[in-house]
Amino acid sequence: MVSFAVAVPPSDFPQVFVGTAELLKHVRAQFLLDWQGIHGAAHWSRVLDNGLRLAERTGARIDVVTLFAFLHDSRRVDDGSDHGHGQRAAEYAVELRGRAFEIDDAGLTLLAAACRGHSDGLTEAEVTIQTCWDADRLDLGRVGRRPNPRLLCTAAAREPAIIEWAYQRSLGRANRTLGRV
Ligand SMILES: [Fe+2]
Ligand SMILES: [Fe+2]
Repeated sequence: MVSFAVAVPPSDFPQVFVGTAELLKHVRAQFLLDWQGIHGAAHWSRVLDNGLRLAERTGARIDVVTLFAFLHDSRRVDDGSDHGHGQRAAEYAVELRGRAFEIDDAGLTLLAAACRGHSDGLTEAEVTIQTCWDADRLDLGRVGRRPNPRLLCTAAAREPAIIEWAYQRSLGRANRTLGRV
């Protein structure tokens, strides 16, 4: 059982990673797509890094941001638009709470909402949800698209330096950690 009850400092990636190892076992066992693909582990790793960096500015819940990174694309059935994968991820998050991780009810509500709406192009939401969506959208360079500031939710994500940092990483020059799991 993994507990995210205690917030982990954004700069302390190793603790977050160790705490999510069991969750990743569950997720990988049912993942239908290429683990090394555009919606696989390397993407999730960068979404996590993006989210933790944004959270330092937005005050988003780190446990929710972390779980979102690992779950939001975990129930895709293809690498296209796959309408419905957000809803399936939200349902999966509810299913895994208590089995693969612990989170309070408010956190689960945020996590499910973030997963459910992450590919609908929305920008208005509670700030933790916005941070999750921005973390994902900042990684569009992997599919040849530079993030559009007008489609980002938070001022932190719209900063040109953040967009450039995330964009360069999304091109595959600085993948780390989960891509090798
Ligand atoms: Fe997605
Ligand atoms: Fe994603």
